[in-house]
Amino acid sequence: PVLILLGPPGAGKGTQARMLEEQFGLVQLSTGDLLRAAVAAGTDAGKQAKAVMEAGELVSDDIVIAILRDRLADADCAKGVILDGFPRTTVQAEALDTLLAESGQKIDAAISLDVDDAAMVDRISGRFTCGDCGEGYHDTFKAPAVAGTCDKCGSTEFKRRADDNAETVAARLDAYHAQTAPLIAFYDAQGALARVDAMGAIDEIASTLGDIVRRAT
Ligand code: AP5
Ligand code: ZN
Repeated sequence: PVLILLGPPGAGKGTQARMLEEQFGLVQLSTGDLLRAAVAAGTDAGKQAKAVMEAGELVSDDIVIAILRDRLADADCAKGVILDGFPRTTVQAEALDTLLAESGQKIDAAISLDVDDAAMVDRISGRFTCGDCGEGYHDTFKAPAVAGTCDKCGSTEFKRRADDNAETVAARLDAYHAQTAPLIAFYDAQGALARVDAMGAIDEIASTLGDIVRRAT
């Protein structure tokens, strides 16, 4: 299956994608994570993406589509994928349709996580992740059971993202509304859209998404 999670920064795309990955044995494909890895590795794409990401703007369609296409060709993706943060523009959505058609696949569901912008600043500014296994946390909403120790792997190394400051978050929200929100109508027209109120508790949202995935696949 191919699932898409749409939603503004902080909506919980990464959090829910990782839960669906465990529950359904799918592969989470986050273009944000792939781009951050390219920046860290200092590849050409990473060098071009770095400043754009720090400004909270969208990296060019060419770069992102190329990165996604490469990753999608990996053998593990045959199990099915959850796209987290891709597509983000109409050009990317059309490129994805073409890519999937080439391998006889289609989108099973595009799930929009609906939230209010004001709350997103709090979610993002409290966010941190495990430096070893990548598990996501939040200072107030999802703190580790033992302070300073990862629930999943026991690591004591945590990191915060360079673009998680109030100014960049505002630019990321603007980019979402201008360039990504039109995809809600795009997937509605394809009959693939599901909308979920993503202001509730993480586990409740996860159970709603689980029902949608079971129905769609
Ligand atoms: P990306 O990495 O995709 O970031 P984003 O879209 O801004 O999304 P976030 O990762 O900030 O939020 P999320 O929805 O995953 O929320 P999370 O689950 O972490 O993109 C970064 C940059 O890369 C972009 O700005 C752009 O420059 C570039 N880029 C990436 N893809 C691109 C593309 N396709 N095209 C062009 N450029 C691209 O949750 C947030 C926090 O809230 C966590 O701490 C979590 O614990 C907590 N939380 C989650 N759910 C809840 C809940 N229900 N209640 C309370 N707290 C919650
Ligand atoms: Zn960990």
